[in-house]
Amino acid sequence: MMMTEQGMMLTERARRLRQNPVLRKMVRETRMDKSSLIYPLFIREGTAVREEIASMEGQYRYSIDQSFSKIEKLLNAGISSVMLFGIPGQKDEFGSGAYAEDGIIQRAVREIKQRFPALYLITDVCLCEYTSHGHCGLLKDGDVDNDSTVALLAKTALSHVQAGADMVAPSDMMDGRIRAIRQELDQSGFETVPVMSYAVKYASSFYAPFRDAAGSAPSFGDRKSYQMDFHNRREAQKEALTDVREGADIIMVKPAMTYLDIVREVSDAVNVPVAAYSVSGEYAMVKAGAKCGCVDEKKMISEMAVSVYRAGASVYITYFAPEIAALMDGGVIG
Ligand code: PBG
Repeated sequence: MMMTEQGMMLTERARRLRQNPVLRKMVRETRMDKSSLIYPLFIREGTAVREEIASMEGQYRYSIDQSFSKIEKLLNAGISSVMLFGIPGQKDEFGSGAYAEDGIIQRAVREIKQRFPALYLITDVCLCEYTSHGHCGLLKDGDVDNDSTVALLAKTALSHVQAGADMVAPSDMMDGRIRAIRQELDQSGFETVPVMSYAVKYASSFYAPFRDAAGSAPSFGDRKSYQMDFHNRREAQKEALTDVREGADIIMVKPAMTYLDIVREVSDAVNVPVAAYSVSGEYAMVKAGAKCGCVDEKKMISEMAVSVYRAGASVYITYFAPEIAALMDGGVIG
């Protein structure tokens, strides 16, 4: 070991591997790929409607016919999976639009599949966008009733798959819904359709822009009796393991950025792929930060994306999917 002029005797020089871009990339620990990106898409009633979401600059609600050109752009950007959220024309106490044969999602799935058979279509399964009170299930004595809601969720999931959905993603946080959905699909001959469970979904203020987008804010109370308390860590494992036992094929953690510790622990605990959902509030925060000139938008998007994969996720659901794909193409991340 040589002593330097300054008298330093270093055995470890971490900077050796950071000297040039080829080397840095050679020893990179996290590798990402566009095929792991899922873009959330809001579909609403009507025709020729493309409506910007006030709290999510650059994101829109599309009528079915308007979604086609967006999907074409996504496919051209290398994004081959989307997750659909429905905004019905009418809502009622029972969320019946969620499982209606001619509901907004059922129609959207049929039409989109017909035009874009190669697109991988995932549907969000929940009642909150369809109930007049905005809660994720049926109300009983002022709270969401678990078991009667689960039956409707299973019905909703089946109707999406019958319409042609490739995968269903229940986001309601009721107990036992993965088992019920799995059984319902299996009984109808859809045993090969995967279920991605929003298994670890925290009661988060970061969903606010989404609720604005989908008009799904609860009209009273909050979702704390079904979504998770963000002080909890071990409970995330419990939720994830329960859903794997019930038949979930992919486990999701949501939100992403403020729950990377959970992404890591859950991905260590389960033997199925883990997805992280960078939610509407994360998107809005980046947009606001970039707008005020405090931070560079592309750099922020890059770090946020890499962080979820580094934490152990192998699937990333994000409104920035097209931007991330472009950053990957440009060799900025990947
Ligand atoms: C429906 C659902 C929500 C989100 C995804 N599915 C909202 C909620 O639980 O209130 C949030 C997505 C986002 O904020 O981007 N239950």
